[in-house]
Amino acid sequence: MRIESPRYTERFGSVRINDVQKVLELDSGKAKDLPLHENIAVQKIEEDVIKNFEEKMAIVIPTMDEKLKLFEGVISGVPHECLIIVVSNSQRKKVDRFRMERDTLQQYCHFTRRQALIVHQKDELLGRALAEAGYTDLLGEDGKVRNGKAEGMVVAMLMAMLARKDYVGFIDADNYFPGAVWEYVRCFASGFSMARSPYSMVRILWRYKPKITSGLYFKKWGRVSEITNKCVNSLISNNTGFETDIISTGNAGEHAMSLRLAEILPYASGYAVEPQELVSIFEGFGGILPMSHQTAAKHGVEIFQIETRNPHLHEDKGDEHLGDMLMTGLGAIYHSPICEGETRQLIMSELLQRNLLTPEEEPPKPRLSAPPKKIDLTKFFKVMEEHLPSYSALESE
Ligand code: GDD
Ligand code: MG
Repeated sequence: MRIESPRYTERFGSVRINDVQKVLELDSGKAKDLPLHENIAVQKIEEDVIKNFEEKMAIVIPTMDEKLKLFEGVISGVPHECLIIVVSNSQRKKVDRFRMERDTLQQYCHFTRRQALIVHQKDELLGRALAEAGYTDLLGEDGKVRNGKAEGMVVAMLMAMLARKDYVGFIDADNYFPGAVWEYVRCFASGFSMARSPYSMVRILWRYKPKITSGLYFKKWGRVSEITNKCVNSLISNNTGFETDIISTGNAGEHAMSLRLAEILPYASGYAVEPQELVSIFEGFGGILPMSHQTAAKHGVEIFQIETRNPHLHEDKGDEHLGDMLMTGLGAIYHSPICEGETRQLIMSELLQRNLLTPEEEPPKPRLSAPPKKIDLTKFFKVMEEHLPSYSALESE
C-alpha cells in the first residue's frame, strides 16, 4: 500500500496529531528496495508489514439489528489474519436476530477456517464478570451492560485484551462495501506501522460519502462531522493559542487504537464516544491538566488520520438520529474541564442555530466509564476465560 507521509504534525502537549494522509495505491506490489527519494513524500507499506500488524489486531463490529446481508458483507471484508469480535445488541425476543448473526458468523468461520468471537451485550455472564471486576460504570440496574454503541466497544476492548491482541479497530456493521472494510483495516495497519509511540490511534476519513438525491452525489463531508471538527479544532486552538484545522475525523466511527492507549482512556456513552476519545487524549496528555499516565506522556500519544480510496456508504438512520449524535458529541467537548469560553459559545451557537437547544439549556454531560485498566482485569479474565468457547464462532472440530 502507498500512503502519503505525514506532511504536517500539530503538537498539543505530548499529543502529536498528524495531518490527513491520503492513500495513493491500494496495492503497491512486491517488496523491493526503494530509491531513497520515494520515502520523503510517500510511504510504501509492504504486504508483510501489513499482515504482521493485522495478526496482532482485533476488528470489532458493533451491531444492533442491522440487515444480515450487510453484516455478512462486512465480515467478509475483514482480512484473514485479524480476529473478528462481534458485539451485538440485536433483539432476541420475537425474532432472535442475535442467533442469526451468530449462525452467519459460524458458517463463515467454518468455511474460511478462521476464528471469531461473538457476544451479546446483554449476556448475563458478561454482566457478572464486569461486576466482579468492579466495572459497574458499564452496567445498568439489571446488572447487564447498558445500551449504546460505546458500551459495546468497551466490552470488545476487554475481549481483545483477553485474546492477547495488541491493537483494536472498530468497523460499523451497516457498511455496504466489503472492499471499504478491507481498506480500513489496511489503513489501520499502515498507520500503526508509521507510529513511533506505542500509544497510537488511527482515524479514518472517507474520500466521499455518497448521498442519493436525484442521482448519486459524492459528498465529502457529513453534516455532523463538519460541525464536530470545527468545535474540536476550536478547543485545540484556544488551548494552544494557535488557530488550527488539523482535526478532520472528530466523529470517525471507523478507527483503531493500540490497546496500550485504549486501556488508559475513559469513554463516553453512546455516540459521544469518538469525539470524547480526542477530548480524553487532550485532557490526559495536552499539558493543560496534569498528565494522566506518565509512560504514555513520555512516549507521546500519536494520532493518524488516513483518507481512504473507497467511498463510504452506510444505512441512513434519519435526521433525528443525526441531531442526537451532534448534541451528545458536542456535549463531550462542552463539558471538558479544558473547554474554555470561546469553544463553549461556538457549541451553543451551533446547537441553537439548529434548534436543538434553547438558550437556557446546555448540551448533555456525557456519562463516562473509567479506563479499562482501572478495573480488576484478572477477575474479569478469570470468569470469561472459562466460558470463552461459548463465545467462539469456530467450534472445535
Ligand atoms: N453493540 C452495539 N450496541 N452496537 C450498536 C448499538 C448498541 O447499542 N447501537 C448502534 N450500534 C451499531 C450499529 O448497528 C452500527 O453497526 C454501528 O453501531 C454504528 O451505529 P449507527 O446507528 O449506524 O451510527 P451512524 O452510522 O449514524 O454513525 C456512525 O458513524 C459516525 C460517524 O463516523 C457511528 O459509528 C458513530 O459513532 C460515528 O460517529
Ligand atoms: Mg451507520
